[in-house]
Amino acid sequence: MSSQSQIPVVVNGACGKMGREVVKVVAQAEDMTLVGAIDKDPASLGQDIGDVLGCGLLEVPVTNDLEATLVMAQGQGLSVMVDFTHPDTVYESVRAAIAYGVRPVVGTTGLSADQIQELAEFAEKASIGCLIIPNFSIGMVLLQQATLQAAQYFDHVEIIELHHNQKADAPSGTAIQTAQMLSELHKPFNPPEVDETEKLPGARGSTLADGVHIHSVRLPGLIAHQEVIFGAPGQLYTLRHDTSDRSSFMPGVLLAIRRILPLKSLIYGLDKIL
Ligand SMILES: NC(=O)c1ccc[n+]([C@@H]2O[C@H](COP(=O)([O-])OP(=O)(O)OC[C@H]3O[C@@H](n4cnc5c(N)ncnc54)[C@H](O)[C@@H]3O)[C@@H](O)[C@H]2O)c1
Repeated sequence: MSSQSQIPVVVNGACGKMGREVVKVVAQAEDMTLVGAIDKDPASLGQDIGDVLGCGLLEVPVTNDLEATLVMAQGQGLSVMVDFTHPDTVYESVRAAIAYGVRPVVGTTGLSADQIQELAEFAEKASIGCLIIPNFSIGMVLLQQATLQAAQYFDHVEIIELHHNQKADAPSGTAIQTAQMLSELHKPFNPPEVDETEKLPGARGSTLADGVHIHSVRLPGLIAHQEVIFGAPGQLYTLRHDTSDRSSFMPGVLLAIRRILPLKSLIYGLDKIL
């Protein structure tokens, strides 16, 4: 059982690429206690998560029982579930966490706008914080801020996001979020200059309603990268963020775990809690 000064944290997707990093930083944080490690990976079930990660015993066995883990975490005070799992199951897991009074910090991308709206209503009703953060890196927040500044002066912009080829959803949640931020400026970007024909479907990427194109690249060797390219006659202005290691996301994850406790509703985006 955690003391009052400790934040009990459950990691959902604990054996995945991101989940492993989260387990390690939570286990090292002085104000947090790792109380649950959930994953559906059959090879790790029942094993100590510290052994699975090769970082020494953490006395938390890997389980695939989400509900039992949430009940246990709820019994330990104001608790948090960090979710880095899969777009297909994240909605149900986050709903369950809210229902059990465990605050979700959601890194998993791929939630639809409707699902986010439903989770916002559910969190509001339960009067519980829920953070949906499509990108935990501070550098990406700065790129998005610079994007909004440049958008005042350029009328043409496209987004390229590049990720490792294990990523299940496309385009990335961060690219969608960046395009949404541009769309909220209510500026008619990319006025057509010719009648365009796509000889292959998708050649020009995908767009939100207002025409900012997003292109997705998937290759082994990449981690998570994004470019926002502004064009004007005679000049290009390129903003680029590169993640070379998943540790880059961890200060944002720890911040979110600490900031979520007093919240009573859903917040989307790291920029809102910095
Ligand atoms: N927000 C961010 O900053 C950020 C950064 C990187 C990745 N992501 C996103 O996080 C998610 C996970 O990425 P990853 O690279 O760690 O993937 P991964 O495939 O390496 O890990 C996912 C883990 O979740 C487990 N899992 C899947 N479904 C589950 C379920 N229903 N219950 C319990 N465990 C389940 C898998 O067994 C696996 O161990 C993706 O959606 C990715 O786009 C977000």
